[in-house]
Amino acid sequence: MNSNKLLKILILAFLLFFPFSSSSTETLIQNQSIKDGQILISKEKNFSIGFFSPANSSYRYLGIWFAKVKEQTLVWVANRNDPFNDSSGVLSINQDGNLVLHDSFNRSLWSTNVSVQGQASTAAQLLDSGNLVLVQENNKKVLWQSFDYPTDTLLPNMSLGLNRRTGLNRLLTSWKSRDDPGTGDCIYKLNLIEAPQFFLYKGLIPYWRTGPWPWRSSTLKSNVKVNYINNGDELSYKYFFDDSAIITRIVVDNSGLLQLFVWNDGEHRWNEFWSAPKYRCDKYGQCGAYSICNSDDIDFECSCLPGYEPKSPRQWYLREGSELGCVRNKSGLSMCGNEEGFVKMERVKAPFSPVTGHMYLSMMSYEACKQACLRNCSCTAFTSLKDGKETNCLHWYGELMDIEMHYDERDPSIYVRVDAADLAKNTMKFGGFLGNKGRLALVVMSIVVPLLPMILLAHLWIRNKKKMRDPTKSSSLNWSKRFKIIIGIARGILYLHYDSRLRIIHRDLKTSNILLDDEMNPKISDFGLARILKEDQIQDKTKRVVGTYGYMSPEYAVFGKFSTKSDVFSFGVILLEIVSGKKNSGSYMEHPSLTLIGHVWELWIEDKALDIVDSSINESYVTHEVLRSIQIGLLCVQEDVRDRPDMLEVLLMLYTDATTIPSPKQPAFIFRTTSNDLKSVAEGPCSINEVTLTNIEAR
Ligand SMILES: *[C@@H]1O[C@H](CO)[C@@H](O)[C@H](O)[C@H]1NC(C)=O
Ligand SMILES: *[C@@H]1O[C@H](CO)[C@@H](O)[C@H](O)[C@H]1NC(C)=O
Ligand SMILES: *[C@@H]1O[C@H](CO)[C@@H](O)[C@H](O)[C@H]1NC(C)=O
Ligand SMILES: *[C@@H]1O[C@H](CO)[C@@H](O)[C@H](O)[C@H]1NC(C)=O
Ligand SMILES: *[C@@H]1O[C@H](CO)[C@@H](O)[C@H](O)[C@H]1NC(C)=O
Ligand SMILES: *[C@@H]1O[C@H](CO)[C@@H](O)[C@H](O)[C@H]1NC(C)=O
Ligand SMILES: *[C@@H]1O[C@H](CO)[C@@H](O)[C@H](O)[C@H]1NC(C)=O
Ligand SMILES: *[C@@H]1O[C@H](CO)[C@@H](O)[C@H](O)[C@H]1NC(C)=O
Ligand SMILES: *[C@@H]1O[C@H](CO)[C@@H](O)[C@H](O)[C@H]1NC(C)=O
Repeated sequence: MNSNKLLKILILAFLLFFPFSSSSTETLIQNQSIKDGQILISKEKNFSIGFFSPANSSYRYLGIWFAKVKEQTLVWVANRNDPFNDSSGVLSINQDGNLVLHDSFNRSLWSTNVSVQGQASTAAQLLDSGNLVLVQENNKKVLWQSFDYPTDTLLPNMSLGLNRRTGLNRLLTSWKSRDDPGTGDCIYKLNLIEAPQFFLYKGLIPYWRTGPWPWRSSTLKSNVKVNYINNGDELSYKYFFDDSAIITRIVVDNSGLLQLFVWNDGEHRWNEFWSAPKYRCDKYGQCGAYSICNSDDIDFECSCLPGYEPKSPRQWYLREGSELGCVRNKSGLSMCGNEEGFVKMERVKAPFSPVTGHMYLSMMSYEACKQACLRNCSCTAFTSLKDGKETNCLHWYGELMDIEMHYDERDPSIYVRVDAADLAKNTMKFGGFLGNKGRLALVVMSIVVPLLPMILLAHLWIRNKKKMRDPTKSSSLNWSKRFKIIIGIARGILYLHYDSRLRIIHRDLKTSNILLDDEMNPKISDFGLARILKEDQIQDKTKRVVGTYGYMSPEYAVFGKFSTKSDVFSFGVILLEIVSGKKNSGSYMEHPSLTLIGHVWELWIEDKALDIVDSSINESYVTHEVLRSIQIGLLCVQEDVRDRPDMLEVLLMLYTDATTIPSPKQPAFIFRTTSNDLKSVAEGPCSINEVTLTNIEAR
């Protein structure tokens, strides 16, 4: 056999077994068809339509996928429940102008099934948005579009929700499994109750919901735009990225997750950008009726609304059974015309009343809304919702479900009906208790609780010592006590950074915020500026720098960036202050231009670090322990964030003297600056000495 013949056979085999993927234009006109193996590509080559088989399946389906994404990702499937067994499928426009999907026996498996007036000719076009449209050629009227019949995927600029003119409620339905695009169990759809909201259902059971119109709590991240539409034609929303070059999709999967993915072309994979439900409390009804769920709660996420108590205390406290939930305290007073009132719960996901429902009263002021609720004894709660300039009123009657603590300023406050006794009890307590501060207050309490009556401010002994030259006090603070205090502070900060379930950045660690009890155990106090980072968050940024100069790290003072490492910096300063008995912001006769940090650094490189040790530590001290502490202090105040150890490393270095510790690099803030210099750098009104700025920004 000569090579020419072989080549011919190979070409023939290729043509027989690999049907050519011939790409045509983006338009399909009457009497044309797309056979299995052929595809149609949109104009800018954003999307393709053609036949495909899912991962582990041999069935053939007609679908639309991203043309630019290497990993074939379907966004729409026509015959999701009626696949072809073989590659006989054909998509064409039939005599009456409809798009039809049929097999070699001319059996129709799917069709657009619209009526085309007057035998006008039609054409189907795949748009670059991913929408397949059937248009009447003479007047360009859209007769049918795939965006109206989504499968499991929402694309940018595609509307989800109600089209009031056609009555079509566009919804997403998951695939059955990864290799079966058939109609699955998980549905994301608009629930057309009084206060319309989107629900994610698993089967018939609600699994997650957005909260009532305008679906504030479903707002995604900031670089994603969400358009809420409520007019005579539409009650729907759509999303898109500012940058239209970003390839993205929202999809409901068969495990009940709603996910927003963004294609990462560099890594050739879809990155999850946002998803729901994400936290324990996102799950619908996690704590049962009349309860409030707080995913950040250290101990147990559920608590009862004011005036309510656990339905089954045993199950509630053991956290078992499905019978969670709360009921009204039976011994409570009547809540009908008996001087009852409302307790405000700030920034929560507004509840859902599954049985008795809601009442949505548009254009009603807060006060009118409240009075109307008060007058109807079955009204259990109300809220005043802002929609643009309008203030609308929402009442709930009966059971209150799925209230979740959110801490998002866009979330509404709700007002829960309580009896006169609970009203008196709660008006004081709930004022700010449930806000962001409240969360901190809980944590702070658990840290600072065992404070003994006699407390001594740590900074007092430093200041007194400076002023009075403090022999009584100083003799009570020998080296071993100081070392114990250093370790105690380090453990406290470690707790804030890692051990508490929230990652807390104190932002204002300084000696005057360290309280000492009569056994000289240190406690960290004043969490007024503290911030909570999310579990996976490492640093955050603020426009308004608040804190105390002398203790602030350079990246925080200058750029407003704070992280656990900025607390480490403050700890380093505190450590050096405790060892030296001097304040970082004070001046030293020997070196008026240097800060304490600068002074220690200079002595350190001259190998005279022990000169800095407080002269009032007159008894002997363990030289290597003191040197080690100074070295750790210097490591903490290094200029570059990445060079600073974290609190765990600090504590390990303090505890074990077997490990070698690195040599510190030059620290930040060696030279003393005048207050005005620093002010101009930080662009914020900051205090220089002990006074903390109380200018707390809104969270
Ligand atoms: C499609 O084919 C039918 C019959 O073969 C013919 O009558 C009709 O004119 C054709 N339509 C177009 C748009 O070519
Ligand atoms: C396909 O089947 C293989 C073997 O059963 C399995 O490992 C793989 O996860 C399946 N792929 C998908 C997408 O389901
Ligand atoms: C696929 O095969 C099954 C079983 O062989 C048959 O019942 C069914 O009708 C076939 N479907 C199509 C679309 O050909
Ligand atoms: C296919 O069926 C349609 C009606 O469903 C008919 O009009 C058409 O002529 C058929 N085509 C063939 C090739 O049998
Ligand atoms: C087409 O639509 C009509 C009504 O508009 C309906 O009665 C018929 O069942 C539909 N046919 C298919 C195949 O969906
Ligand atoms: C979505 O619509 C907006 C405004 O109508 C437009 O600017 C944007 O390019 C569209 N994005 C996509 C991906 O179609
Ligand atoms: C098609 O994709 C490009 C980038 O890939 C994007 O800029 C453009 O907006 C898309 N077109 C539409 C209509 O979405
Ligand atoms: C129930 O109400 C009574 C009377 O107001 C009160 O003494 C009791 O503490 C309440 N129980 C709870 C769990 O709030
Ligand atoms: C209270 O509101 C409910 C629900 O709207 C209504 O059915 C009932 O008649 C109202 N009761 C009074 C006294 O207005």
